[in-house]
Amino acid sequence: MLLKYKHTIMAVDDEASILKAIQRLLRKENYQVLTASSAMEGIELLKKEKKPVSLIISDQRMPVMNGSQFLKKSKEIFPDAIRFLLTGYSDLNAIIAAVNEGGVHRYLTKPWNDEDLMLQVRQSLQQYELVLENRSLLLLTKKQNQELNQFNKHLETKVQERSQEIVEKNKQLTHMNKELEASLFKTVRAFAALIEMQVPELAGHGRRVSQMVRQIAQFSDLPENEVTHIEIAALLHDIGKLGLPLKLIEGKDNNGTPAEKSLLQKHPEDGQNIVRFIKNLDHVGLLIRSHHERFDGQGYPDGLREETIPLGSRIIAVADAYDKIVNLKINAKALTDDYLKNHKVTRDHLADGELLQQAALYHLKQFGFTRYDPDVVKMFLEYIKQKGMPARSEKEITIDELEPGMVLIQSLYSLKGRFLLPHNTVLTEEYIQKLNIMHQNDPIAEVIYVLEKQR
Ligand SMILES: [Fe+2]
Repeated sequence: MLLKYKHTIMAVDDEASILKAIQRLLRKENYQVLTASSAMEGIELLKKEKKPVSLIISDQRMPVMNGSQFLKKSKEIFPDAIRFLLTGYSDLNAIIAAVNEGGVHRYLTKPWNDEDLMLQVRQSLQQYELVLENRSLLLLTKKQNQELNQFNKHLETKVQERSQEIVEKNKQLTHMNKELEASLFKTVRAFAALIEMQVPELAGHGRRVSQMVRQIAQFSDLPENEVTHIEIAALLHDIGKLGLPLKLIEGKDNNGTPAEKSLLQKHPEDGQNIVRFIKNLDHVGLLIRSHHERFDGQGYPDGLREETIPLGSRIIAVADAYDKIVNLKINAKALTDDYLKNHKVTRDHLADGELLQQAALYHLKQFGFTRYDPDVVKMFLEYIKQKGMPARSEKEITIDELEPGMVLIQSLYSLKGRFLLPHNTVLTEEYIQKLNIMHQNDPIAEVIYVLEKQR
């Protein structure tokens, strides 16, 4: 095996001829050679030497400091160097001491065999190279381990920082979402208020339908965001009617001209077009567009049928029909007559409100599969069976019947159109007194819509 490095070897002997002989031998093999004629000189040379000394060969018998003592000292300067001791046969004690105390690796007896000496020098230097390589490999591994550790720590910190960033971003997103949602509801309320100002009757209808669809939709286990969309769509479902003549809006007159009918049938599309301007309400727009579709495909505007009609629209259609009968009293006479005829009861058996509710339920059952989705009708009936009829806490009263604690469902105007109080106002004694005074000069509408005071 060839040596990889050019090695420096030191030889120490007080006999100049021996020193020269060793020097000659070593130079032949291209080693860098340092020589010293005494231990002290050797130590001085070692201290000055900049490059590492790989091998130190020392004679044992020298004045002042012998070879084993010198080699022991040299160990402090170059601890890795291989140490050879040159000695005579009789110096067995010196050899033992040198091996034990001076860390001597080999001893050579004088006179030596040149080839044998060179072989031993080569072998020792190979061993020296192996030790050094091993050590540098160990150092490299240690260094890489440290780097890896540092990298891991850095990575951990980065991951923590990143996680923190994600948590922060999430917080911001949630906040933004809440703000968006809040501003969406503000916009929806603004639209509802617009309907309220233009056609108060329509606003009450939208409000009641939206309350009902929330309850039906919740009863059907729909996810909350979908329920909210359906609720908003129900609130605004007839917004496309704004601008139509009042008699068309009220829908009580079934004898409209074909032109009037087609005008009225445009309201779902117009409604969708109106909410198109509100961000994030695309889905709501679709629900509004399809609220007059029929389960049998005979509805408008697209003639969709069965499950191709969005579920929200099918729910709105049922609640819309119920409220039109029970609260707007559209076709009330014909429907109650129909109910009474089919159930073989007379009008005296039921209170007016209850009769209308029963007639409405009968109508929904009759038209499940044709006008309405039978599953939604079933859901609505099941809901009523479990929770009772939708609460009718709304009242139509006159100014004399106002009581503190009642809440205005619609904004209050005088007959001349003077704005008096906004909707949602909780009436107080003072408000009622002022309204009565104003009523003397500028009469207030005959019917006022309120929510009964909470007990
Ligand atoms: Fe409608």
